Amino acid sequence: MSKKISSEPYKGVRDFYPEDYATQKYIFSTWRKIAERVGYVEYEASILEPAELYKAKGADNEEIVKEQTYTFVDRGDREVTLRPEMTPTVARMVAAKRRELGFPLRFFSIPNLFRYERPQRGRLREHWQLNVDIFGSRSLAADAEIIAVAYGIMRAFGAENKDFEIRVGSRAVLNNLITELGLSEDSAKQLFSLLDRRTKISAEEFGQGLADLGVSADKISSNEPPEDIAKILQDFRDAGIDNIVYDPSIVRGFSYYTGMVFEVFDTHPENNRSLFGGGRYDNLTQMFDDEPLPGVGFGMGDVTIRDFLAVRNLLPPYTPPTKVYIAIPSPELATEANTFAGRYLRPQGVNVAIDFGERKLSDQIKTATKHKIPYLIVLGPDEFTSGNVKVRDLTSGEEKIFTKELLAEFFLNLGK
Ligand code: HAM
Repeated sequence: MSKKISSEPYKGVRDFYPEDYATQKYIFSTWRKIAERVGYVEYEASILEPAELYKAKGADNEEIVKEQTYTFVDRGDREVTLRPEMTPTVARMVAAKRRELGFPLRFFSIPNLFRYERPQRGRLREHWQLNVDIFGSRSLAADAEIIAVAYGIMRAFGAENKDFEIRVGSRAVLNNLITELGLSEDSAKQLFSLLDRRTKISAEEFGQGLADLGVSADKISSNEPPEDIAKILQDFRDAGIDNIVYDPSIVRGFSYYTGMVFEVFDTHPENNRSLFGGGRYDNLTQMFDDEPLPGVGFGMGDVTIRDFLAVRNLLPPYTPPTKVYIAIPSPELATEANTFAGRYLRPQGVNVAIDFGERKLSDQIKTATKHKIPYLIVLGPDEFTSGNVKVRDLTSGEEKIFTKELLAEFFLNLGK
């Protein structure tokens, strides 16, 4: 016998069976609805990018590029990378068509991204990430809008203000500090990385890291927000949004951020971690041409938000698209059952699945239950002759009889 292949998926990626996929689609449709509501339009691009897109100066040193990209050489000797994030791709797309596109430009996308990570709770090797970005504006109102979209999405999922906290930091403040202290590019990167890991390491380790870089702790822990961030926070508070704070330790991992940066944290005591984040990046398109094009946006992953919603019972229960299952006592009735559904149910808009009648009726009903299909009809010779059918509610066991002409109406009126 030949060696069998494992039916497990590749490490760190997920198979989506229908119930999981329904959850995924719910998350995507909520993202899409809110992004479109505030004037963002959807774009897409290929998963494959030339590897050099991630090797621009400044990025080549980053953990994500050095250790986490899936890169291969194609048959034509080109180095190709599976996109680990969408920001370089969208910057490339906007730079390529900057003459045609209207600014300010509001763009969103829901790409799947690949990172060679050690799989763990909240971190996988493939995830989907809502990307919401504004190009062509330096206005503080654009920064505030991006945070507001993030907030609006959390609320649309049913989260309350007490469930999450928006922590806003400033790359500009840090960049000034780096200049003031005269830190080298390498030390600056180490400082970003140290601040980024702050909540994951001990206070001693953090203090030691600062000391090694020659940075005194009071320099990075001043709770005095810079003026622009203070204005954003005040506007949110005036609008009754109180779960937003200034946090000088928020820096974010990528070196392309230049101004406001933010991260949204779960406030659950057992899950106090970052859910997603973003910020302002004013120089990214300079890898394509010299004309500056400011950007601000965020990326929200499906893995962390899904855990957040599941823990709080905020995910909708699964309902299959199929409303009714038709069981038949013998295989010869399959054609007639199909004709019945094709006349009295499907054209009216009722989704129907029909068993092939190869097993006992009780087994056919078990299949309907496994698929969580809410209703069952048994179509046998009697039903075909009389034209009256019994509809069984598979949850309550309740039964109702309908003439074939009034059947569709019953299903179409459900939930009305
Ligand atoms: P990021 O912080 O690397 O930023 O990723 C954004 C979010 O994507 C994370 O906070 C998390 O929700 C999710 N995420 C990232 N990596 C993984 C993973 N391995 N498994 C599961 N979820 C993950 C960016 O990617 C920026 N490009 C976002 C951005 C857009 N900034 C401005 N515009």
